[in-house]
Amino acid sequence: MIAPHPFRLFANPQFGTPGTVVLPEGGFRRAKAEITTWPGYAVTTLRDLPALAAEIGIATLRIKDEASRFGLGSFKALGGAYAVGVVLANELARRGIAANASTADLVAGRFRTATAGITFTCATDGNHGRSVAWGAQRFGAACVIFVHEGVSQGRIDAIAHYGAQIRVVAGTYDDSVREAAAIAQANGWFVISDTSWDGYTEVPRDVMQGYRVMADEAVHQWTGPAPSHVFVQGGVGGVAAAVSAQMRAAYRPAPRLVVVEPEAAACLLASAEQGRLAAVGGDLDTLMAGLACGEPSPLAWQELGRAAFAFMAVPDAAAVACMRLLAAAGIVAGESGVAGLAGLLLAAADPRARAQLGLTADSHVLLFSTEGATDPALYQQLVGVAA
Ligand SMILES: Cc1ncc(COP(=O)(O)O)c(C=O)c1O
Repeated sequence: MIAPHPFRLFANPQFGTPGTVVLPEGGFRRAKAEITTWPGYAVTTLRDLPALAAEIGIATLRIKDEASRFGLGSFKALGGAYAVGVVLANELARRGIAANASTADLVAGRFRTATAGITFTCATDGNHGRSVAWGAQRFGAACVIFVHEGVSQGRIDAIAHYGAQIRVVAGTYDDSVREAAAIAQANGWFVISDTSWDGYTEVPRDVMQGYRVMADEAVHQWTGPAPSHVFVQGGVGGVAAAVSAQMRAAYRPAPRLVVVEPEAAACLLASAEQGRLAAVGGDLDTLMAGLACGEPSPLAWQELGRAAFAFMAVPDAAAVACMRLLAAAGIVAGESGVAGLAGLLLAAADPRARAQLGLTADSHVLLFSTEGATDPALYQQLVGVAA
């Protein structure tokens, strides 16, 4: 267990409202068929934590550990890199170079003369940029990644490792998103964003379809009674929406989805409270760097606004406590990877929150540890041991 920390919980009054399909099944099938044939693809482990489940008074607690995903350290490897491949193949077709270039063709460098002249870009607080840079390098394209001032040197180095040029932008993640889009437009670069905006939805949709592979694996690994609850962390909401879509496709009724954000950047919770897409201001100062987003992805919100059961905001101190707790259980989880666990532990220890979420001794909870030690120096500083 962890010590008590203040938290916010908001039950979604729009839960269950019918709406449009945000992530069509055909797009998911294409993403799965592609990603699962990439060299190095391996299903990540789903760990059972029976002692912790008993301690917090639920039946089952399982956590999907994304630290090993494609050697990139986070689930984000599934999204950005996949979208790079889709956009690149489409562009080669548009130019009349290859009607249907496969990943194998691209990795083998068959169209290198053309791909080398194509540049991909995105804004990132670490993991998404690493995925885009990795994808661009594998597929023989150029890459420029925008980071805001708060991104740690360790995370910048990890992106540069994949050959990307790095540009540092003043302000927050949301500022870097706008800067990347503006510079891309001026230069004819392709933006691979994990968040959407008006008129820009196809790429983030593919990114989210890629993320669904993680949730799909968890469904296939799950044994026994279906999950009753899923707690997942929220940045712009992309991964939470992907998990939501996959859970709704796999289970009837779907498990109750609880989206957990840092207290300093709870834009999805604010949107739920206001009943519409809402941004939060301020410097978004949180240790959970991957979740430091002040503006939800409209596409993700279309799913979460009606399919999420509740939203929570948790403080950084709870995340650090969860990193230590998982380290003791042999799971290396980074700052942004543990928000869901923090939400569960805080809610489970609070009688009112337990009742609101319907957490009981019969609950079966699925969590996603969405990153490992993606900044090893910071991990060591926070946990007290090396990853
Ligand atoms: C480790 C980790 N978990 C969760 C998220 C949140 O994903 P999203 O922004 O799609 O909500 C991120 C985003 O960067 C992340 O890096």
